[in-house]
Amino acid sequence: MEKIIIREINCLDLDTIFDIEKDSYSNPWTLNDLETEVQNSFSKNYLIKKSKNIIGYAFTHIVIDQMQINNFCISEKFRRCGYGKILLNSILAYIRTVNIKCVYLDVREGNIPALKLYSSSGFKIDCIRKNYYSDGENGILMSNNIGGYTDTLSTCSIEQLP
Ligand SMILES: CC(C)(COP(=O)(O)OP(=O)(O)OC[C@H]1O[C@@H](n2cnc3c(N)ncnc32)[C@H](O)[C@@H]1OP(=O)(O)O)[C@@H](O)C(=O)NCCC(=O)NCCS
Repeated sequence: MEKIIIREINCLDLDTIFDIEKDSYSNPWTLNDLETEVQNSFSKNYLIKKSKNIIGYAFTHIVIDQMQINNFCISEKFRRCGYGKILLNSILAYIRTVNIKCVYLDVREGNIPALKLYSSSGFKIDCIRKNYYSDGENGILMSNNIGGYTDTLSTCSIEQLP
């Protein structure tokens, strides 16, 4: 059986990742966006690979003891095979060992596959961000309190803020 590899993304991976971006999103990140993320000192970016194929990836930012997942994607031809869950759970397992206490992400309200994936990996809904995306779709802010904050993450509603 081919071995699955999860490792940090480098510049040589970006052309393939850009192809997956264009196939996956109506508003994909540009090659320049991807390069900027790889060069950021506060970014941690991972891919999942099998044989020579890049299957998917996650672009994240680390701020002190928190991680924000800014982009999480599995190539269309490899979806529903469990790779998204493997990548996500591997990242969660790793960051537990490096003192990250909470992970955040935003997901489109209508993105059922992603909502189900994140829920199944322990993410909870914190609030709905009305009209969060440029096309007007609501965003759902989710977090996974993997190991630190007890009772400090009260459920909030950004809709209620002035
Ligand atoms: C969301 C995404 C990453 C899921 O990746 P994946 O590798 O297909 O997911 P997995 O096969 O690991 O599935 C894990 C769980 O997610 C849920 N899930 C995944 N795809 C689903 C679908 N099409 N419909 C319903 N649930 C789905 C299921 O709960 C699944 O568990 P199960 O197979 O035991 O039922 C993938 O669909 C994707 O890249 N979509 C396009 C980019 C995107 O929307 N990214 C998220 C941005 S926030």
